[in-house]
Amino acid sequence: MTASHRILSGIKPTGEMHIGNYFGAIQQQITLAHESDAYIMIADLHALNQVHDAAILRSNITSTLIAYIACGLDPEKVTLFQQSTVPAHAELTQILGAQVSLGLLERSHAYKDSIANGKPVNLGLFSYPVLMAADILLYQPEFVPVGNDQKQHVEIAVDLAQQFNHRYGEVFRIPKEYIPAEVGTIPGLDGRKMSKSYGNVLGLFEDPERIREKVMKITTDSRRPEEVKEPDTIVHLLSLVDAAAGDQLRSRYLAGGVGYREAKELLAEALIKKFAPLRERSLSLAEDHNYLARVLTKGAEKAAVVANETLHAAQRACGLR
Ligand code: ADP
Ligand code: TRP
Repeated sequence: MTASHRILSGIKPTGEMHIGNYFGAIQQQITLAHESDAYIMIADLHALNQVHDAAILRSNITSTLIAYIACGLDPEKVTLFQQSTVPAHAELTQILGAQVSLGLLERSHAYKDSIANGKPVNLGLFSYPVLMAADILLYQPEFVPVGNDQKQHVEIAVDLAQQFNHRYGEVFRIPKEYIPAEVGTIPGLDGRKMSKSYGNVLGLFEDPERIREKVMKITTDSRRPEEVKEPDTIVHLLSLVDAAAGDQLRSRYLAGGVGYREAKELLAEALIKKFAPLRERSLSLAEDHNYLARVLTKGAEKAAVVANETLHAAQRACGLR
């Protein structure tokens, strides 16, 4: 990736950020964004399909913004914005919606998974891939960095762009998904995938005491200190935070002679050391309402220039303008 590559990516502000999000998505997104011409979006309209409490949604939007900046994203280098403040997203969604077949949306994973899990499906969730296609196509990006779970959505954006260009002439650049190096699945406190929906997360900005408490609760088997152990969640998480310390603990597990209590203490202290500066930064950002508001205002202005240009081209192409 170089500064001449345009990328667009986003994250849904659906709740507290956890270290699974950090190692699985945010860290790589920030590195990539600093190497390219990047548009990073807080996808609040997507979150609205799931979060139906105004105060919670508002607080999620702010905490997501704070998390990005505290984790190192520089809003001077990257266009960081809140999706709903650029109305072109909703407008292009309506235009693309006129092209899309129901069959395509019925094959979308997000929709199929909700049906399979007996969750209620609203129109917003059903048309999620159309809004996401609009998010992407408005910025004419070459690459869309996403996790594997979002690959299908980028493919739908490609389909819609091709259909539109075929019918009305070249308006949209055809984007490519960019799946950053596999970080794998970060395990949570109970060993399953770390996820808000499992209640097994370590929050990104939790205070040290809470981190210690939670780490002590990580599920382990009942092997005694002298016994040989299988590398587990503790080793996995420690390796992410401090590769050398992780390797060392792995060897000690395999040799026998380290107890889970000691392993957990090592992990807790490593987590606290790694995330303490980020936590400090998040606390001071949370106080600085003016700064946060300025970031979002400036981000929206910069994003709207690009988004409106594409929207107007699409409107002209299909006869609305
Ligand atoms: P959650 O499962 O907690 O609801 P999200 O679906 O909001 O998390 O995650 C946002 C992004 O963070 C995902 O696209 C995914 O790439 C990444 N992510 C979340 N949890 C993990 C995990 N346990 N391991 C690796 N990546 C993760
Ligand atoms: N759907 C993505 C997710 O759940 C978030 C998102 C919304 C997004 N619009 C996007 C990601 C556009 C990349 C590009 O994680």
